[in-house]
Amino acid sequence: MSLATSPGRKIPIVSLASTKGGVGKTTLAYVLVTEVARRLALNLAAGPAGMAWRGRVTCIDADPNRTLAQILRLTKDPLITCVESDSDRLLGDLRHAQAESDLVVIDLEGTANQAMLYAAGKSDLVLVPAQPSRFDVVEAVKTIGVVRKAADLVGRDIAHRVVLSRTPVLRQRVADHSRAQFVRAGLPLLPVELVQRAAFQSMTYTGKPPWLQDGGEAAAANVVSLVDEVLAIIGLHLPLMTPADQANPPAAPARDQRPHLQGVQTVA
Ligand SMILES: Nc1ncnc2c1ncn2[C@@H]1O[C@H](COP(=O)(O)OP(=O)(O)OP(=O)(O)O)[C@@H](O)[C@H]1O
Ligand SMILES: [Mg+2]
Repeated sequence: MSLATSPGRKIPIVSLASTKGGVGKTTLAYVLVTEVARRLALNLAAGPAGMAWRGRVTCIDADPNRTLAQILRLTKDPLITCVESDSDRLLGDLRHAQAESDLVVIDLEGTANQAMLYAAGKSDLVLVPAQPSRFDVVEAVKTIGVVRKAADLVGRDIAHRVVLSRTPVLRQRVADHSRAQFVRAGLPLLPVELVQRAAFQSMTYTGKPPWLQDGGEAAAANVVSLVDEVLAIIGLHLPLMTPADQANPPAAPARDQRPHLQGVQTVA
């Protein structure tokens, strides 16, 4: 059963974590939240079925450099709220965010710290971006070590995936070798990678996600398949509506199946 229809639905939390800086956490956080906000907007515009959603994605920027908050200020998407946080405030900020959103995404600093442990302990999924290099295999092992400690602390499994980032557009032998190294190190890989594309860099200046950029089609398609994979893992049924879906939207869910009315108060 998907989270969107399960009676005990809790608002999912996804964290972007790595013990190393510059691997693509903020880039991935940004494309994830803007794509989810785009899907929510299409659902809300489609009529009664859209009432199933609150229409808000909350980002918790727990990196003192506030990179994600800066890009989101440029984007000005009304469905995205960004909260600047730190390890002291993180748990309280998460509680508030879960009470008001359809999805919460935490962007972390590129180092193992208390915020990473707290974020992982509250997460439904921890994404660990890594570039195809031996150094990043070692760092991903360390990061997932922190996730395992958090899982031990909270007494449950915490789903985690390495996401290869900045991979070459043309499949190269070195990237294949690198993928095999991640697998050999026992690290679960997301089947979709974030490819190296100019659109992922220009969005940091313009605040425009790839689907709003001229020439950003390939990057936008990459984001759609990556976000589909992520949402499937956390059980959030939010496919990208096509024009045909919009013309003929699905029926509104029964009142007691509206996800935002279910289980919200159960979050500790
Ligand atoms: N798929 C991609 N294609 C092109 N450029 C990318 C891609 N992913 C990341 N970058 C670029 O790589 C750099 C580092 O990415 P990003 O800031 O997302 O990493 P980070 O892990 O958040 O870093 P930090 O630990 O410093 O917060 C940025 O300049 C970003 O624009
Ligand atoms: Mg960052």
